[in-house]
Amino acid sequence: MLTDSYGRVATDLRVSLTDRCNLRCTYCMPPEGLEWLPKPELLTDEELNRLIRIGVTRLGITEVRFTGGEPLLRRGLPEIVAAAAALDPRPKTALTTNGIGLSRVAPSLAEAGLNRVNVSLDTLRPDVFEKLARRRRLHDVLEGLAGAAAAGLIPVKVNTVLMRDINDSEAPDLLRYCLDHGYQLRFIEQMPLDAQHGWRRDTMITADEILDRLSAVFDLEAADASTRGSAPAELFYVDGGPATVGVIGSVTRPFCGACDRVRLTADGQIRNCLFAREESDLRPLLREGGTDEEIAERWRAAIATKMPGHGINDPSFLQPARPMSAIGG
Ligand code: 5AD
Ligand code: SF4
Repeated sequence: MLTDSYGRVATDLRVSLTDRCNLRCTYCMPPEGLEWLPKPELLTDEELNRLIRIGVTRLGITEVRFTGGEPLLRRGLPEIVAAAAALDPRPKTALTTNGIGLSRVAPSLAEAGLNRVNVSLDTLRPDVFEKLARRRRLHDVLEGLAGAAAAGLIPVKVNTVLMRDINDSEAPDLLRYCLDHGYQLRFIEQMPLDAQHGWRRDTMITADEILDRLSAVFDLEAADASTRGSAPAELFYVDGGPATVGVIGSVTRPFCGACDRVRLTADGQIRNCLFAREESDLRPLLREGGTDEEIAERWRAAIATKMPGHGINDPSFLQPARPMSAIGG
């Protein structure tokens, strides 16, 4: 098991398949993009599959989520999903994507054994999309959502980050859209993970504010907190239910005490927290003949030192050196 010194057990593995992306969301990347990881440093499909196998068969991982950058940009994604889904015990599999191209590949991903998707959608307005993601791709994202639902990758979850004076007025519209289409919407507080370090505590849209804006239009009732478990989203029944909306208050309502996540970057680093300042490199063991048990041991050691919390609200907080796109969501 991957147990830390506070007794938390990591069972949810987030695998970043690439740091590249075809969007340039302002809360993530600068307009020109970033210097991408050099190819020789990226794990090969075989190396990735081996690490996922070690995680699932030796370390108690029960859920594998593929992220990026944009994971659909990774060639061989269906094969990677299939390899994970073929493991015994079979882990749950999910994908976090911006949805571009999803409508085309959703059937083959479902066929490969993918269980679910989370799609990022921050606006329903093409002009706002272009301002926020710096590309004109809203139509592709909406098509991707529909394609995922049609392929049975359900429940389709939608992730929304609200930015002040950009898309914050759209919260009720986004919820209405998701209710109408049967998608589960979750609002995520913006976190200090952008490459340009543009995040400001005093201008971010907080969970309280999100709930205020939604409450102006919908009747919200908090779902029983005991159903939350390690899930970061606080759930609210909308207009009497059964549909819900989630609010992930990563900054103002941290859930670190219940965290069950561990992250693997596309270049083979284990990160025990989104905000970790240190990583453990598994690549040398992978490439220089390390045994499965040696790799598992290094991985366990990486989790043992997990900090109790992210510290965003401490004056001494320092943003991690890697941006979100190179960590995975
Ligand atoms: N704060 C909060 N969420 C973010 N995401 C990307 N960057 C940030 C950030 N700085 C979201 C994306 C996607 C998921 C992977 O994380 O919108 O839904
Ligand atoms: Fe790409 Fe996701 Fe970053 Fe947007 S938030 S630029 S979709 S990696």
